[in-house]
Amino acid sequence: MAEPLSLVTVVGARPQFVKAAVVSQALAQVGAAERIVHTGQHYDAEMSGAFFDELGLAAPAVNLGVGSGRHGAQTGAMMERLEAWLIAEREAGRPASGMLVYGDTNSTLAAALVASKMHIPLAHVEAGVRSFDRKMPEEVNRVVTDAVSDLLFCPDDQARTNLAAERGASGVHVVGDVMYDATLRSSQRATQQHPLETLIGHASASYAVGTVHRPSNTDAPDRLQDILEGLGACGLPVVLPTHPRTSARIQSGKLTVPPSVTLLPPQSYLAMLTLVRNASVVATDSGGIQREAFWLQTPCVTLRDTTEWRHTLIGGWNRLVDPALPDAANRIARALAEQPSADQSDLPSAGAPERIARLLIEAWS
Ligand code: UD1
Repeated sequence: MAEPLSLVTVVGARPQFVKAAVVSQALAQVGAAERIVHTGQHYDAEMSGAFFDELGLAAPAVNLGVGSGRHGAQTGAMMERLEAWLIAEREAGRPASGMLVYGDTNSTLAAALVASKMHIPLAHVEAGVRSFDRKMPEEVNRVVTDAVSDLLFCPDDQARTNLAAERGASGVHVVGDVMYDATLRSSQRATQQHPLETLIGHASASYAVGTVHRPSNTDAPDRLQDILEGLGACGLPVVLPTHPRTSARIQSGKLTVPPSVTLLPPQSYLAMLTLVRNASVVATDSGGIQREAFWLQTPCVTLRDTTEWRHTLIGGWNRLVDPALPDAANRIARALAEQPSADQSDLPSAGAPERIARLLIEAWS
C-alpha cells in the first residue's frame, strides 16, 4: 500500500507565505500531511506573523530563528539548523517524505541544498523563472534550486523552455502561477477586510502605490533618492509601504522624501491587494507585485532593467525603467504618467495549487 505523503514545506520571506498558503489548502484537501518550517528570514510581526494570521497558514512546526545577515551567514545558518531539525524529526520517527520550496530567496536555496544532501525528494514551485542576470542573488538561488529539484512546477511555458535549455524536461510540469490563484481567492476578502479609506484615509481619489526593496535599488543612496524623486514628480499622491531595509536606508542616507510621497509601514497581503487594485498606477521592484498589478488591471512601472514576467509588458501594462540610468527620476515620473495601449491578454489559468497537490501525491505517495 502507498505510504501517506508527509511533506516538509520551507518558507521564510513574505511572498513564500502567500504562495504556501494556497498550496497548503490544496494539500489538505488531498490528505497530504504537511509540516511548515519557517527559517525566520523575515521576523517582524508586520513582515511575518501578520501573513500567517491573515492567510490561515498553519503555525510553523518550527521557527529556525535565523533572521537577517549577509548571504553566506544567513544561508549557512538556515542550512545548519534545518538539517539538525530534519535529523531530529527522522530520529523521532517523523521522516520527511518530500520537501517543498517556493520562489527564489535564501530560504529556498538553503532548504534545496539540505534536501539534496539528505536525499529528501525536492519540489520547487516557481521553477524555471529566469532574469538571466546572475548578479541578482535571486537568480543564483533559482538556478541552483532547479538544478537539485526532482519536481519542477513552472508557472508558464517560458519557464519550461528555460529549464529545457538548462536541465531537460524530466520532472518538469507547467502548473500555472500560484500567486494568480492567491490573488483570485483573496481579492474580495481584501476589499472587505481592508477598505481603501482605512488604508489611505479616503476612498475615491487617484493615487499611486510604490514598493522598493531590492538591494540594487535601496543600497545606493543616489539611486534611492532618484526613485523617491521620480515618485514625487508623477503628479499623483503616492503611498509607499516600506520594507524595513528601505526605511533604514532612507534614514541613514538622510534622504529627502517628497511631500506628495507618504511612507507607510509594511502592509499585509490583503491590504496590499486593496492598494494595488484601486491605484491609478503601481511602481515596484517586486516580482509578485508586478504580476498582481497586471491581474488586477492596474498599470505598473517596474523599477528594474529587466523582468522575469515578460507577458506583463504586452500592451504597456508593465513598463521597465532602470533606476541606474541618468535622469532616472524624470524617466520614472514620465513612465508613471503613461497609459497602456492595448487590452490585456495572456492571463494564466487558475488551479495551480490543486495541480501541484495532485502531482505530488502521484509522484511521492
Ligand atoms: C528577500 C528575498 C527576495 C524577496 C524578498 C521579499 C533573498 C536573497 N531575497 O529579500 O527575493 O523578494 O525577501 O520581501 O532571499 N528586515 C527586517 N525585518 C524583517 C525582515 C527583514 O528588519 O522582518 C531587514 C533587515 O535589516 C535585513 C533586510 O531587511 O537586513 C533584508 O532582509 P533579507 O532577509 O535580506 O531579505 P529581503 O531583502 O527582504
